[in-house]
Amino acid sequence: MRAVLVSLGLVAGMTVVLGVGVRCQSGPVGAAEPVSAERDRSPVDLVLSADERWLLTANQTAGTVSLVDLSTGKVVAEVPCGDRPSALALTPDQRHVLVSATYSGELTILALEEGRLRSEGRVYLGFEPRGIAVSPDGQRAYVALTSGHVVAVVDLRARHLADRIEVGRWPRYLALTADGRRLAVGVNGDGGVAVVDTQSRQRLYLEDFSGLNLGQMYVSANSRYVYFPWMVYRHNPITPGNIRLGWVLASRIARVRLDGPARREAIALDPPGQAVADPHGLALSPDEQWLVCAASGTHELLVYKLPGLPFQDYGGPGDHIHPDLLKDRQRFDRIPLGGRPMAARFSRDGRHVFVANYLLNAVQVVDVPGRRIVRTIDLGGPPEPSLARRGEAIFYDGQRSLDQWYSCHSCHYEGHTNAVAMDTRNDGRNGNFKVVLSLRNVVHTPPWTWHGWQRDFAAAMRKSLTDTMQMPEPRPEDVEALTAFLATLTPPPNPYRRPDGSLSEAARRGEVIFHSEKAGCARCHPGPYFTDGKVHNVFTNEPGDVYKGYNPPSLIGSYDRVRYLHDGRCRSLEECLKGPHNPAKVTNRGELTDAEMNDLLEYVRSL
Ligand code: HEC
Ligand code: HEC
Repeated sequence: MRAVLVSLGLVAGMTVVLGVGVRCQSGPVGAAEPVSAERDRSPVDLVLSADERWLLTANQTAGTVSLVDLSTGKVVAEVPCGDRPSALALTPDQRHVLVSATYSGELTILALEEGRLRSEGRVYLGFEPRGIAVSPDGQRAYVALTSGHVVAVVDLRARHLADRIEVGRWPRYLALTADGRRLAVGVNGDGGVAVVDTQSRQRLYLEDFSGLNLGQMYVSANSRYVYFPWMVYRHNPITPGNIRLGWVLASRIARVRLDGPARREAIALDPPGQAVADPHGLALSPDEQWLVCAASGTHELLVYKLPGLPFQDYGGPGDHIHPDLLKDRQRFDRIPLGGRPMAARFSRDGRHVFVANYLLNAVQVVDVPGRRIVRTIDLGGPPEPSLARRGEAIFYDGQRSLDQWYSCHSCHYEGHTNAVAMDTRNDGRNGNFKVVLSLRNVVHTPPWTWHGWQRDFAAAMRKSLTDTMQMPEPRPEDVEALTAFLATLTPPPNPYRRPDGSLSEAARRGEVIFHSEKAGCARCHPGPYFTDGKVHNVFTNEPGDVYKGYNPPSLIGSYDRVRYLHDGRCRSLEECLKGPHNPAKVTNRGELTDAEMNDLLEYVRSL
């Protein structure tokens, strides 16, 4: 399938493809091309048309966009739009819908015409496109490219990639001010929010507050603030005491001024004993009286009265929710939704919130003053969840952790990693912080953990549930389901490869070096997963290690890390291979020349 795409590499300079539909053909689709009713839809984002006649959802596991007629609550069209759509945006004239497909790497442009969706082609961007914002004049779309560490500027008239803006590592969601001049981007690999001037296309400042898993972003009407939910890791070992105090992982909502530089102000979300996990969706009512947040891990909509919310500067906001909020249901309330609520959007009158519920394959409409679900729009899906889907529900379930502070996803973001070095005490000692491992391809790469002491996958699942989550021994069927889900996790296609999947010239020279005696990489990192399943001492041991040596991590997708080696001491592949994991040091057969090193890096990047 990738063969048809003309590609790019950030290094080679981006090339762009128009309308070469592989799955998205031009011409009318939707009703004419039905998607199996049995398929899980898993909506992650939604938009409402300005007249509130239409609702559109981005269905992550089905690879489609659904168009719902809100007068009947029925899906009237469903269009394929690439692998793993993540976000949607309507153009200001309401005539086009843009969809980002994270794995297949494209931005699809759909025309919305009276109950029909027609593909008008797509722009290939690569590098995991996620959040989208459209300029007020409808000329440009800004698309966050997570593994490219940039925001793509797409010219919507010419339908091509016009520019890219360096914003910081792992941008996911973003929002634009009403006048289109400032863009706020959550940069997860750098723990904060980048504020960009869209005229100069420069990052003005980065507000870094060690934030993780930054969710949907929303700019206030006066363009002063961007609001968003996030999680914080407090750098303490996972113990029941630390968890209960909010000293491990905790949830926050913050706002950052867009006319700064300015420090973030935040509120803590977690009530003692009954915390909030994985806040993701966020919206303000049009009159800015209400702020709602979809807590995907605790399956609920959080409702806050916005005026008077006790936002605090760096000295705060404390470990738990402000006690005053707990006393007054007008100021703070929790509405249970079930499933995995993701994006949230208000109706124009500010009464209703539409929530995309991933695990329920549905959109829920919540009456905010009445604090209840008034309508559920079914998007289609299997009658019973599969084994892997049941495992997925466990993976995203914050209620599987002590006092429900976090889920597997909080650390292994969407099955990948949040790139934080944590002390899970998995290696038998305290204070030994290790980077959260990505779970892509995990079932194929035994043994497990950085030290490679874990050889039994089911035991690893049980230990994650009992030790990392601090919960009782799981049922065997839960372990089986979780394993089935983890077996579905694969990396996206490598964006550094040529469109047909082949290697560049430089990467091919690097491949020879990789397999040479001098570099010696293939000895410990042999294909197909580029790990030999053994344990080696590569001079990174720590004093007091209970387990000696490390298991070579799989190098597949290693371009997409923001920290390297077990303790995360390196911030790039280059730093890793020129520094502590330099072949001269690891194999002791002499230095590579600069040219050899560049080719080697090019090869490792394209694995
Ligand atoms: C608080 C963060 C955190 C949470 C929550 C978490 N993990 Fe992990 N996970 C880690 C870290 C850190 C490692 C690496 C530990 C080590 O090597 O000693 C890891 C390692 C793993 C590994 C081994 C991967 C490999 O390639 O060797 C698996 C499998 C895993 N976790 C599954 C899970 C599952 C399933 C859950 C939920 C039940 C979960 N984790 C929850 C942080 C977390
Ligand atoms: C003697 C075995 C051995 C050899 C030879 C070796 N590696 Fe490694 N590699 C490892 C081990 C073990 C680790 C993990 C070390 C740690 O985290 O402390 C590692 C880590 C890495 C990482 C970091 C991955 C990550 O996700 O953090 C990269 C990249 C890498 N190796 C590439 C290479 C390349 C390229 C070569 C050849 C120049 C090479 N390695 C040679 C054993 C080896």
